[in-house]
Amino acid sequence: MSWNTAAGLDGKGVVVTGAAGGIGRAVVEGFAAAGAHVCAVDVRQEAVEEVVASLGEGHLAVASDLTDLGGHEALLRCALDTFGSFGVLVHSAAVLRRRYDIDDVSEEDWDIQLDVNLKATFFLNRAAARLFREQGRGGRIINFTSQSWWTGGFGGAVAYAASKGGIVTMSRGLARTLAPYDITVNTVAPGFVDTPMLVAGVPEQQLEEWRRMVPLGNRFTTPEEVAAPVLFLASDLASHITSTTINVTGGQLVY
Ligand SMILES: NC(=O)c1ccc[n+]([C@@H]2O[C@H](COP(=O)([O-])OP(=O)(O)OC[C@H]3O[C@@H](n4cnc5c(N)ncnc54)[C@H](O)[C@@H]3O)[C@@H](O)[C@H]2O)c1
Repeated sequence: MSWNTAAGLDGKGVVVTGAAGGIGRAVVEGFAAAGAHVCAVDVRQEAVEEVVASLGEGHLAVASDLTDLGGHEALLRCALDTFGSFGVLVHSAAVLRRRYDIDDVSEEDWDIQLDVNLKATFFLNRAAARLFREQGRGGRIINFTSQSWWTGGFGGAVAYAASKGGIVTMSRGLARTLAPYDITVNTVAPGFVDTPMLVAGVPEQQLEEWRRMVPLGNRFTTPEEVAAPVLFLASDLASHITSTTINVTGGQLVY
């Protein structure tokens, strides 16, 4: 067994969704630095192309809206065909619609957050598992939940938090279902991470209150600090870890 923290990632085909986002970009950069071939997926075409252009050769940008469930297989197969192997799915794409008063939550708000964050996750995970099984070499799935799966969320995030609770429950079910095929399914639960999703439209006073809630340094987690455990879960060092939720909240969430 290699003790290199990037063991098993060199040359591996990795699909990262939400790749143009704050955390997704750091995950893409982490895998590229570890020698993996990354297929970076995001609904924002120009932004995801810019991410991949900054990496050099050997990577792929794909513009795709993951609510198009019928497009998932072709998307993942494109990564397989391009890189010759597909071994890791990191699913970071999500939306958050803050509604500080629950009376303002519309049915459309509910639907879009559940569709992108939860429904698309199931179908994308299933499509990945099918391709992993086809290749017969196992695989790694890393989904994104949030501290809100446990706390219920802060800052008008009730519907979002419900979708993130579903991610943990579903990932546990998939972990048990897919273990016989050597496919692991784990989740990462960030707390307050300095990205557009967290800060957009939030008053500075509120952001400062959130920083003070974080015991490790009274600061937001950086995207790179979230990408690190993602790489670990994809590496050979995590070969016997499945169904876990890694708490990356700087001590804000204790359970
Ligand atoms: N930032 C935080 O504080 C925080 C905290 C807890 C959990 N998270 C989770 O971490 C993950 C990454 O969040 P982030 O902070 O980088 O957010 P972000 O808003 O910076 O990035 C999300 C990305 O997902 C993409 N996306 C949205 N809908 C899509 C769709 N239908 N199809 C394809 N792509 C789509 C967006 O274009 C965006 O680039 C998310 O799952 C989020 O819920 C973030």
